[in-house]
Amino acid sequence: TILVLDFGSQYTHLITRRLRELNIYSEMLPCTQKLTDLDFKPKGIILSGGPYSVYASDAPHVDPNVFELGVPVLGICYGLQEIAWHHGKDVVAGEKREYGHAELNIHANGSEVSRLFQGLPNNTDVWMSHGDKLGRMPEDFQTIATSPNSPHAGIAHEKKQIYGIQFHPEVTHTPRGVEVIKNFAAGICGAKQDWTMEAFKDKEVARIRKLVGEKAQVIGAVSGGVDSTVAAKLMQEAVGARFHAVMVDNGVLRKNEAKQVKETLTRGLGVNLTVVDASDRFLDRLQGVADPEKKRIIIGNTFIEIFEEEAKRIAKEAESTPHAGPVEWFLQGTLYPDVIESISFRGPSQTIKTHHNVGGLPEKMKLKLIEPLRELFKDEVRAMGREMGIPPDLVGRHPFPGPGLAIRILGDVTREKVRVVQEADLIFIEEIRKAGVYDEISQAFAALSGDRAVGVVGDQRLHGYLVFLRAVRTTDFMTATAYEFPAGVLARIVNRIGNEVEGVARVLYEVTSKPPSTIEFE
Ligand code: XMP
Repeated sequence: TILVLDFGSQYTHLITRRLRELNIYSEMLPCTQKLTDLDFKPKGIILSGGPYSVYASDAPHVDPNVFELGVPVLGICYGLQEIAWHHGKDVVAGEKREYGHAELNIHANGSEVSRLFQGLPNNTDVWMSHGDKLGRMPEDFQTIATSPNSPHAGIAHEKKQIYGIQFHPEVTHTPRGVEVIKNFAAGICGAKQDWTMEAFKDKEVARIRKLVGEKAQVIGAVSGGVDSTVAAKLMQEAVGARFHAVMVDNGVLRKNEAKQVKETLTRGLGVNLTVVDASDRFLDRLQGVADPEKKRIIIGNTFIEIFEEEAKRIAKEAESTPHAGPVEWFLQGTLYPDVIESISFRGPSQTIKTHHNVGGLPEKMKLKLIEPLRELFKDEVRAMGREMGIPPDLVGRHPFPGPGLAIRILGDVTREKVRVVQEADLIFIEEIRKAGVYDEISQAFAALSGDRAVGVVGDQRLHGYLVFLRAVRTTDFMTATAYEFPAGVLARIVNRIGNEVEGVARVLYEVTSKPPSTIEFE
């Protein structure tokens, strides 16, 4: 394990990410972590960047033991200054903030290039982002690289294996950065490059078994999305039928969704799943509600209510079954990016936690939380899903919002509108798959206008529905652009929707980017 201590840089999670890409296992902890409390011995430690100045009275500092553990240490940006600060020497505020590209000049001290920079060209492009810089060298340290603005852009105490760099090797703007990280982790620390999804899965299954024990039971919600499916499959492998998955059909799912999820999870993956058909309760409560935020609240609260009823039923059943243990655990498919946000040493972010706790359900029901995916990024979850034999269609699935079609039907939601949007959506996605462009699109769906428009069906004028189609490309869902379909595809889709979905007068393809629009319509 390479331990990454986080000083709050926006790039810290990328360090872990790069290590994983090198198949090196790494863990991130807040910089204030007491190193005597660790339950593992790291092969090396990386101190991240951070937005502070080491001199500020409220600046965070690392446990000084970090330099006494006898393992190599690499400080990045703030981490370098932290090394200098602990070794009692100067860090000065730079005359100008250095931000952006800089050329790093790698010094060959005597004849040898530092092991940290082995294999890199003498002059290499790096990404800088800092205000302070190193004034003088701490004792016994050497300068191993300079840049125009940083006379000590790289420092090393080769004997103690302590290294500091002013630039950020973890960002893609430092093209050879991964080699620096590899030189440190695999070369200097000797960390093994044996982290694979399979190894992770085995380790996680073993961890869950130990945690849950021989009798206790676990409950969790599944949605048909990749995260909850992978989490459920993992749990099923670990504890079998003692894991109870619950899917709530809220009446605003995609067409046939509940049936398909039941089929895939139960028959395909062997997960012990109950589908609760609560569509009437949801749709009745949504009747006449046009405000999108109100729709979200109604759906969120009703979901919690139903899940709680189901959890109580399962708990009761367990009580009356001989030899069955009590329901003690709650499974949640939290991913690493959510975790990063909530482990900041400045205090965990409560809003993020409650968001992922399904409305505080585990606390309310006195259940312990179990989060098997908390170390993984989305694409790693997908890789694991493939490894576990989850169907590729499901693994590569576009995201679907919790409030479902309710926020894709502008204005009030009726059963009739749900039918129209479900049928149009099914045709849209079918044709996208047929055209072979599903994986090029990040998210695609049909939505329904709150207004009607005139059209002609046969010889009749029809005051019918207005269907919107939307397909976007994005990497982070913060910004997005409309997808440009190959010639002929949209025409085929529009034709089919017009012919096959009763009551549709017009179909419109939406081409606005985000911003100014959002991906969803409400
Ligand atoms: P927007 O519409 O904000 O969507 O551009 C960005 C991403 O978030 C999803 N989304 C939601 N997901 N509950 C969810 O679980 C919601 O209320 C919600 N609103 C938007 C949307 O599908 C897209 O992937």
